[in-house]
Amino acid sequence: MLLDKCQIIDLPKVNDPRGNLTFIEAGKHIDFDIRRVYYLYDVPGGAERGGHAHKALHQLIIPMSGSFDVHLDDGQSKKTVHMSRSYHGLYICPMIWREIDNFTSGAVCMVLASEHYDELDYYRDYSQFIKGAQKVPK
Ligand code: TYD
Repeated sequence: MLLDKCQIIDLPKVNDPRGNLTFIEAGKHIDFDIRRVYYLYDVPGGAERGGHAHKALHQLIIPMSGSFDVHLDDGQSKKTVHMSRSYHGLYICPMIWREIDNFTSGAVCMVLASEHYDELDYYRDYSQFIKGAQKVPK
């Protein structure tokens, strides 16, 4: 099942009384090369982000600060992942519909992505996504 590929990755954490440190190395902690980084911040209470799927993009979502919920849907099954640890990354493979909500005040959601921004890589319509998902080999 495609959804099973979407898992929390435990990133390295260097504990230090001066403040903890986490690092990510492409090819070691994640299987894709990072071509883009973007982040969501100043998210107003009650707002929802995402609401789309990607055809080919691989992503890792990290809560840099605060917490939020990520709802994942591969067209057959759904699951929700609560993200609140800066040393946790949620890997999202291609062809997963995602919605992100329940942001705490001051939350920052950083996303590492395998490709540059490309609007043609998006499904923004859920019924079109479902049609596409039915063609994905199981
Ligand atoms: P969108 O991917 O819909 O954001 P979210 O997943 O948080 O709901 O993008 C919102 C807008 O930002 C849209 O007009 C495209 C633009 N955008 C870029 O220009 N570059 C990027 O890397 C991203 C992620 C979005």
